[in-house]
Amino acid sequence: MLCNNHNNMKEIIENSKTNGVASLVVCLLILTTLLSIFALYSPFYSSITTKLQINPRNPSIIHPQKDKNAHCDLFDGQWVEDSKGFPLYTNATCPTIPTSKDCFLHGRNDKDFLYWRWKPHKCKLPRFELTTFYKIMRNKRLAFIGDSLARNQMESLLCLISQEEAPIDVYKDAKDRSRTWFFPRNNFTLMVLWTRFLVKGVEKGGGVFDLHLDEVDENWAHNVSQGLVDYAIVSSAQWYFKKNYLYEGRKLIGCLYCNQINLTQFKVSFASGKAFQTTLRYINSCKKCNDMVTLVRTISPSHFENGTWKTGGNCERSKPYNTTMVENLLVVSKSGLEWEVRNTQMQEIERAVKEAGIKRQRKIRALDITRAMLMRPDGHPGSHWRDKKKKGFNDCVHWCMPGPIDVWNDLLLALLRRVHIL
Ligand SMILES: *[C@@H]1O[C@H](CO)[C@@H](O)[C@H](O)[C@H]1NC(C)=O
Ligand SMILES: *[C@@H]1O[C@H](CO)[C@@H](O)[C@H](O)[C@H]1NC(C)=O
Ligand SMILES: *[C@@H]1O[C@H](CO)[C@@H](O)[C@H](O)[C@H]1NC(C)=O
Ligand SMILES: *[C@@H]1O[C@H](CO)[C@@H](O)[C@H](O)[C@H]1NC(C)=O
Ligand SMILES: *[C@@H]1O[C@H](CO)[C@@H](O)[C@H](O)[C@H]1NC(C)=O
Ligand SMILES: *[C@@H]1O[C@H](CO)[C@@H](O)[C@H](O)[C@H]1NC(C)=O
Repeated sequence: MLCNNHNNMKEIIENSKTNGVASLVVCLLILTTLLSIFALYSPFYSSITTKLQINPRNPSIIHPQKDKNAHCDLFDGQWVEDSKGFPLYTNATCPTIPTSKDCFLHGRNDKDFLYWRWKPHKCKLPRFELTTFYKIMRNKRLAFIGDSLARNQMESLLCLISQEEAPIDVYKDAKDRSRTWFFPRNNFTLMVLWTRFLVKGVEKGGGVFDLHLDEVDENWAHNVSQGLVDYAIVSSAQWYFKKNYLYEGRKLIGCLYCNQINLTQFKVSFASGKAFQTTLRYINSCKKCNDMVTLVRTISPSHFENGTWKTGGNCERSKPYNTTMVENLLVVSKSGLEWEVRNTQMQEIERAVKEAGIKRQRKIRALDITRAMLMRPDGHPGSHWRDKKKKGFNDCVHWCMPGPIDVWNDLLLALLRRVHIL
């Protein structure tokens, strides 16, 4: 089909070590872009105005706090220009920036995208601050559980915290997908546990997977169930946007993007919602994770314009979108489908909070970055993710470092402060 060009895929993988999944992520993007052209999902249009009220309406997600800003929705806001908001690290101070995210190394020469600050409507979001971080994280283990976008956030955090102390590279798996870093001064362990779908996915070949929506992927569950993680940031989304077969109770129930008349074709939001339900139920019932804090990082949107990745689709904007632009985007593009995935993720968090015991409830939260990132078509590497002389695709999926992805960790710390009432 559309995704069988192995030379191209190999090229992306080889030129982007930490970007191993880029090829497939990009691959699935064509499919969805094509499909979403046919889909005018008007319900999404209205949902942008209601979406972020999910949190305030559910007092169990945002708990009563001492902090007078504790009820402020961190995720409902806008990007404001901030000429003094210099990045907290650069490619000179952070040696672990992966080449594929070092956009300046590959010729990006506009810097304006670095000078925007996320401003929640009703409060201020403090910038990442190491002292507070280690008040919470001393002697702890934090794991990003997900695909290359989870990795992207881990890499941003790695840069933020390694400004003071160089990390020790403790572990990596054969493909450098799961990885562990250790910070001895604070006895802090930072991991990324690789999983495409959160649930079990068995590759059938050609990038098509059988997804067992009611079984967790052992690759992360194994470590979590042994009580090896104190803070889990779970995410998964982009791998669902392509042809996959769906199973429940080991029985085939349908597919995503398969176009087979004998099979029910489900929406991505259905499959991904089920996967989050399975994941959060697993965590809720895991004996050794009683004290684990679980944050669901909602879908990170992509921004291909003027085509798909394969037809020269790009992301060359140098400024954020305003609210009007985002609303328009949700009606006509893949963004609408992504927004629906985000809404399902929020529903599953609400469900998990309801189902959790009273002690666990306040430890399940949303790191709801979707809306903020929908506004940042300017934050992706685009063509600046490798040597330009090699012709090829644009990466409108991952995020430049430094760049707007660093806000995910400002938000992470702000959320953790709420969990711990700091
Ligand atoms: C670092 O970034 C600068 C621009 O800020 C760029 O000129 C340089 O090539 C980059 N160097 C490395 C080693 O990434
Ligand atoms: C270091 O952290 C681990 C958990 O990450 C903990 O089990 C151990 O007791 C800590 N060591 C010290 C000396 O506090
Ligand atoms: C997960 O657990 C296994 C076995 O206990 C261990 O070998 C591996 O290093 C852990 N993964 C990470 C990323 O720490
Ligand atoms: C559905 O049809 C495809 C051919 O389009 C066939 O390969 C497959 O075995 C059929 N599956 C079922 C469950 O009948
Ligand atoms: C997309 O194409 C239109 C014209 O066809 C052009 O005006 C616009 O700048 C292009 N956008 C990007 C991001 O390249
Ligand atoms: C949003 O941006 C578009 C394009 O730059 C512009 O036409 C429009 O007036 C802006 N809307 C608002 C509310 O600022």
